Amino acid sequence: MTWTRRRFVGTALAASAVGPVLTEASEQKYMLRPAPVRARIAGVEQELLGFNGSWPGPELRARQGDTMRIRLENGLNDGALVHWHGLRVPNRMDGVNVLTQDVIPPGRAFDYHFDVPDAGTYWYHSHYISYDQVSRGLFGPLIVDERELPDVDQGITVQLFDMLVDRDGVFDENDSPGQFTAAGRIGNLAMVLMSTQSVRIGERVRLRLINPSIDRVFDLDIQGFEGAVVALDGMPLAAPRSFDRIVLAPGQRCDVIGDVTADLRFQGADGTDLGSVAARGQRARRTTPIAALPPNTAARPQEPAAHATLVMQGGMGGQPHGGFGTWALNDVSGLPAKPLVKVRRGATARITLRNQTSFDHVMHLHGHHFWELNASGHRGDYRDSTLVRAGEARDILCVLDNPGSWMFHCHMLSHQADGMATWLQVT
Ligand code: C2O
Ligand code: CU
Repeated sequence: MTWTRRRFVGTALAASAVGPVLTEASEQKYMLRPAPVRARIAGVEQELLGFNGSWPGPELRARQGDTMRIRLENGLNDGALVHWHGLRVPNRMDGVNVLTQDVIPPGRAFDYHFDVPDAGTYWYHSHYISYDQVSRGLFGPLIVDERELPDVDQGITVQLFDMLVDRDGVFDENDSPGQFTAAGRIGNLAMVLMSTQSVRIGERVRLRLINPSIDRVFDLDIQGFEGAVVALDGMPLAAPRSFDRIVLAPGQRCDVIGDVTADLRFQGADGTDLGSVAARGQRARRTTPIAALPPNTAARPQEPAAHATLVMQGGMGGQPHGGFGTWALNDVSGLPAKPLVKVRRGATARITLRNQTSFDHVMHLHGHHFWELNASGHRGDYRDSTLVRAGEARDILCVLDNPGSWMFHCHMLSHQADGMATWLQVT
């Protein structure tokens, strides 16, 4: 069997192109088999879940414009589903129980296939009993390379993960106190999972930061590095942005490009050491400034055809609400019978998110990115997951141009499991 069918697509590059540029797009084929795996976490060997014998799952890669074909073969003793977080895939490839497909039973397979129109840092993860399956390791990076790669010596994938372990250092089988009612299942082990073992001083590197943790918001300090943020949730910023710390909520990603100045160290909020990579050797530091990544194409927003309000309710100390779970959105726990927003393909929707709880939430929309609006209604960052702090509110603006039924939920997966989920319908 040939694994690569080559084809040509014509692509007109903006501005600088002197004529049509032919770009080769190809098919990337992968097999993913979720199953129990043995893994060593902080020196303790234990049974977790992984893909293809690896914990966490392997990095999947494609080039912008490629087609991905991924066979998911369920090696679990439980159902399986995988969601391609942040990718604009056709609805039936989205990996969501009830809304887009049935759960894949043990021993059965499902073929996912979709094009990847946007370059950037994405990830994949279980979308079935995800607070449990993801916490055990059913996740991995999905990287879509730009057609023209930025000038860096190496790209390093950095997953920020946490795990709750018992006194023996083994995955804690008990739910944590307050897992479903407060801030979630916050691990007592926080770590970085890095794709490299070595860096050199003077190297220019691209860090692809991903937070696959089920509930923890990371407030990250990167030492031994001078650089700028170039993309959020996969989408390039118009201009590189300097930073001090990086806040990354569950599901979110951030790409930074910069130069290594010493050992690379990642620290959490209270100075906790999350991991590091020692600098070995040296190269002359570049004098060129850090450039913006080439933009992905985003549809232009129109005057909103719909304006919905989503009130986040519940949790410890929260006001009573109409839902049956701990958490609710607009007085409903779990997917409501009717979508929050129903529009025709291409319409723009504005959604006001009001967090009336005492905890932070990060709302993730499937199949689309959206703009965070600032207080004066201007478009800010273009993301697929937005962090709304306790007691705060934020409006988002979304061009709903991908037909289907799309889940919109809190990516603190313990919150999602106990009610914080709704959906949008694009006809
Ligand atoms: Cu990353 Cu519905 O999920
Ligand atoms: Cu939440």
